[in-house]
Amino acid sequence: MAAMKKYFWDSEETEYMLKVLRELDIAKHLDGRKVRNLKLFKVAEKRMKQAGYHRSIDQIRHRWKVLKTSYYSWNNNQQTVKLTRFPQYATTMQSIMDESETWSRSHGTNSGPVRIRNKHKFIVHDEETEDSEEEATAAQSLHDHSTVDVIIKTDPETPPEMDSNLRIGFIGAGNMAYGIAKGVLQSGCLIAGDVPPTNVKVSAPSARNFGRFQELGVAVTHSNAELVSSCDLVFVAVKPHLVTTILSEITDHVTPKHIIVSVAAGVTLATLQGLLPFDTVVLRLMPNLPCLVQQGALLLSRGTRARQEDGDLLCSLLQHCGLVEEGPEAWIDIHTGLSGSGVAFVYLFAEALAEGAVKMGMPSALAHSIAAQTVLGAGQLLRDSGKHPAQLRSEVCTPGGTTIFGLHAMEQGGVRAATMTAVETATERARELGRKSAPTATENRK
Ligand SMILES: NC(=O)c1ccc[n+]([C@@H]2O[C@H](COP(=O)([O-])OP(=O)(O)OC[C@H]3O[C@@H](n4cnc5c(N)ncnc54)[C@H](OP(=O)(O)O)[C@@H]3O)[C@@H](O)[C@H]2O)c1
Repeated sequence: MAAMKKYFWDSEETEYMLKVLRELDIAKHLDGRKVRNLKLFKVAEKRMKQAGYHRSIDQIRHRWKVLKTSYYSWNNNQQTVKLTRFPQYATTMQSIMDESETWSRSHGTNSGPVRIRNKHKFIVHDEETEDSEEEATAAQSLHDHSTVDVIIKTDPETPPEMDSNLRIGFIGAGNMAYGIAKGVLQSGCLIAGDVPPTNVKVSAPSARNFGRFQELGVAVTHSNAELVSSCDLVFVAVKPHLVTTILSEITDHVTPKHIIVSVAAGVTLATLQGLLPFDTVVLRLMPNLPCLVQQGALLLSRGTRARQEDGDLLCSLLQHCGLVEEGPEAWIDIHTGLSGSGVAFVYLFAEALAEGAVKMGMPSALAHSIAAQTVLGAGQLLRDSGKHPAQLRSEVCTPGGTTIFGLHAMEQGGVRAATMTAVETATERARELGRKSAPTATENRK
């Protein structure tokens, strides 16, 4: 089977994707909500595969979204230089959008192309839509983002359409740094442009974890200071107890242009800000282990100096790591309990599922592999269907059938209460660790 392409889309492939989407009548799906319709993109993925273009549904969906946002921005302000980002697709996009207008007029609907009516929102006939707000933010960032310069490569042979000159560093070469780096290197950062591996560097005291980064084409160093001096956005991805030492080591090299993102559990924004120059842009990010397979759940919080566009930039860079949300710092500890530690709760459950099957006579290896697939499939269905878990659960329960008997046993065993307590306890522990890290900041404040 041909491998999935990871990076740049060339013109031929993009035109083919647009042709397929046009044939699938994407024009009817432009009201800002139906465009999320998975079915259409599933069919597009199949057709592209048949034509030899191996792309995931997410990649196709994202590519379409980038083009659509670019089109809306261009349509809204044809004077803006940056919006000539995809001039080669302008004609095709224009005709798709024209079809959409014709379609919505002939059906007398409120759908049809989303238009920018004001600086901050995409509005469809005064009805704000889910999709449109995201696009507005993205398009707005294309207009306004001042800290990141983008360059457009023009090599006609291999046309990577927009590479970033944003330089990204990772202090720490462990699992979390690796998972995030893999996500960042996927194409399609709407705000900063695609990040080529040559723009990424990682530092660690030993070389034992460098190999997998070097395979990605990422540069390595043993000097944290050198890394900070040569990067704009720096992830601090070391164990929490090392954060104080490392920030003290790099603080003289941090400037107001840097964006520092800590993933260390329990280290608060106040602590981080206290260890760095007062005007440093600091964000806190809480990822989880499935970032390693680009299925993470990440929550970020902005420090006092970080602006909305810094959060947007980070969300855009991390979009391939999984679900990325922004929220107040108080939620970070809850997210740690729910998702950082929650991964382990799910593993415990998967292990127990498998052991139940082993007890009933199934070989262990098979039982574990079926348990893993069950957790994966159930999770995917839960996420993609958008249904409440209780609804999906009831759909599996035949009256008097096997599942309701099993669920009764689980309720008797207190699984629900134990799980809620597990999240609560893990959250409290994260809060406690955060409180412990706080005094150090004051002591070390510059
Ligand atoms: N793993 C998770 O599920 C998870 C979830 C959420 C948050 N986090 C947070 O992510 C952070 C990293 O976790 P991890 O699992 O990736 O840890 P890890 O796999 O143990 O990696 C830690 C890395 O830090 C490097 N390091 C140690 N001392 C250093 C120094 N002085 N300067 C630069 N690098 C140094 C280590 O270098 P060597 O390669 O030389 O050993 C190693 O590469 C932690 O703060 C954790 O709280 C982790």
